[in-house]
Amino acid sequence: MNTLDAINARKSTRGFSKRQISDADLEKILFAGGQAAVGGADFKSLKLIVVQNPEVLKAIDESSAKARPGTHPLYGAPTLVVLAGSRSILENIEYTNAGCVIENMMVAAADLGIDSIYLWMSMYGINNDPEIVKCLGFPEGFTCIGTMALGYADREFKKLKADEQRIEVSYIR
Ligand SMILES: Cc1cc2nc3c(=O)[nH]c(=O)nc-3n(C[C@H](O)[C@H](O)[C@H](O)COP(=O)(O)O)c2cc1C
Repeated sequence: MNTLDAINARKSTRGFSKRQISDADLEKILFAGGQAAVGGADFKSLKLIVVQNPEVLKAIDESSAKARPGTHPLYGAPTLVVLAGSRSILENIEYTNAGCVIENMMVAAADLGIDSIYLWMSMYGINNDPEIVKCLGFPEGFTCIGTMALGYADREFKKLKADEQRIEVSYIR
């Protein structure tokens, strides 16, 4: 798949089967994350943590659902990639870095035929539960700054307005 096709193929998946992705594909996706643009090249301010343990995934799902009881914010995904970050060179730049890293990983996943979704909800679920934070082993001064679920969709999901320019553009020429 060429780059533009992979960018277009990426879409949010909100229901996953139990089928796990291969370690080889996971490594490629994580590598793509590590190739992202990062402000000030401050790569040490970021850390990727892969969660595939069913009990830990369940704990994160339940903690994340506290804001919306009765939901499953992880959508049953068998892999959750947690991006931890510390304060970096400029205020809040870590969240911009997170966007770059996670988008790279989602596009790489799409290229490999793997479904994904960027999850903000689970960030709160993680950061608000000290037991989960401890279990994930964040370095000192790090918090969760973004997460991404990976796996295979359990039904078909359509990308919103896939054939349209979704963001307004203006030209100053
Ligand atoms: C920073 C960020 C956080 C998001 N958090 C969630 C989330 O917690 N739950 C969810 O269902 N979708 C989440 N999404 C997915 C968006 O809703 C989705 O990208 C948008 O609806 C466009 O659809 P598409 O990804 O299929 O193109 C998030 C997306 C981004 C970029």
